[in-house]
Amino acid sequence: MGKILVTGAAGQIGSELVVALREKHGEENVIATDILLKAVERVLPSGPNEQVDVTEIRKLQEAIGTWGVTTIYHLAAILSAAGEKNPQTAWDVNMKGLQNILELSRELGVKRVYWPSSIAVFGPGIPRVKTPQDVPLVPTTMYGITKAAGELLCNYYHQRYGVDVRSIRYPGIISNKVPPHGGTTDYAVDMFYQAILKKRYTCFVREDTVLPMMYMPDAIRATLMLMDASPKSVTYHMGHNLAGLSFSAGELAREIKKHIPGFTCEFVPDFRQKIADSWPESVDDSVARRDWGWKPKYNLATMTEDMIKELGARAKQGKLAA
Ligand code: NAD
Ligand code: SER
Repeated sequence: MGKILVTGAAGQIGSELVVALREKHGEENVIATDILLKAVERVLPSGPNEQVDVTEIRKLQEAIGTWGVTTIYHLAAILSAAGEKNPQTAWDVNMKGLQNILELSRELGVKRVYWPSSIAVFGPGIPRVKTPQDVPLVPTTMYGITKAAGELLCNYYHQRYGVDVRSIRYPGIISNKVPPHGGTTDYAVDMFYQAILKKRYTCFVREDTVLPMMYMPDAIRATLMLMDASPKSVTYHMGHNLAGLSFSAGELAREIKKHIPGFTCEFVPDFRQKIADSWPESVDDSVARRDWGWKPKYNLATMTEDMIKELGARAKQGKLAA
C-alpha cells in the first residue's frame, strides 16, 4: 500500500485526522508532518513523524519520494485571525504550500490529495442563510483570499493535469483534543474550556453572532467519506459546502449553562467580529449530500453534551489546561 502524508498534523484537525487515518490504514502507513516537530511528537507520540515546512518544496519532495506517498492530506495553514495580523505570512504559507503540494502531486504521480477550504471563501453581497455552493467568492480576509484562490488552483490542477484533488469548505470546527488557535470560530471551543475551568467566559463576538460550525467527529467522517468516494461521484474539485450546526454565541452559552448552571458569559467583541460578520450564518450543502452521501450526526445538544463529558473527565484528572 502507498503511504499517506499529512501536513500540519499537530494542529486542531490534523491531530485527530491522523489518529483516524492510522486506525483505518495502519499506524506505519501514515506519516504525520508539521513545521513543529516537537508539537507533532507530543500530540501523536507513536507512528512516523517528520518535520516538514510546506513552503520548502525540496523537503516536501524528499518526504513524498522517500516514503512512497500516494495520498496527501494537506492541512498546514495560517487561519483567519492570525492571517489578519500577518497577511504576508498567510499568503506565503497558504498559497506556496498548496502550490508545492499540487505541483509535486502532478510530478510524482500522487493519486489523491485532500485540501480543506473554508467558509472564509465567502464575503459580503451573497445570501448569508443557506449560502449556495456556487456564488461569487469575494472574501474580505487574507485567509479567505488564499482559500478562494486555492480552490481555483485545485480546480486548475484537476482540469489541466488530472490531479484528483478534493476539498471541503469546513465550517468552524469544535473539538476537545488540541485547542484551536488563530481562528475566528475559536470562541465556540474556548467557551467550553473556560466554562469547565472557570465557570465564566468573555466571548470575542456578539451574542447574536451566528456561524456555521461542526463537531470534529462529523468533520473527520466527512473528510474520509469524500476521500473514499469514487472519482465518478466527485463532480466538484473546488470546496464542497458542508453543513453541521448553526447557532449564535448566545445560544451556545445557554446550552452550556444547562450542564454548568453557574456558568456566565459576557460578550465583548474585538477585531474578529468584523470577520465573523463577513461569513455566512449557514450553508447549503446539497451538492455534498447528493454526490457523496453527506449527512451530519451531531446537533447543538448532542455536541454540547459530548464536549462537556470529554472535557469534564479530563478536568477531574487534572489534565485540562486552556
Ligand atoms: P491549526 O492552526 O490548528 O493547525 C495548522 C498546523 O499547521 C499547525 O500545527 C502549524 O504548526 C502547521 N503549520 C503552520 N505553518 C506551517 C508550515 N509552513 N509548514 C508546515 N506546517 C505548518 O489549523 P487546523 O484548525 O487544524 O486547520 C487545518 C486546516 O483546516 C487548515 O487548512 C485550515 O484552513 C482548515 N480549516 C480549519 C477550520 C477550523 O475550524 N479548524 C475551519 C475551516 C478550515
Ligand atoms: N475556523 C476557521 C477560522 O476561524 C475558519 O476557516 O479561521
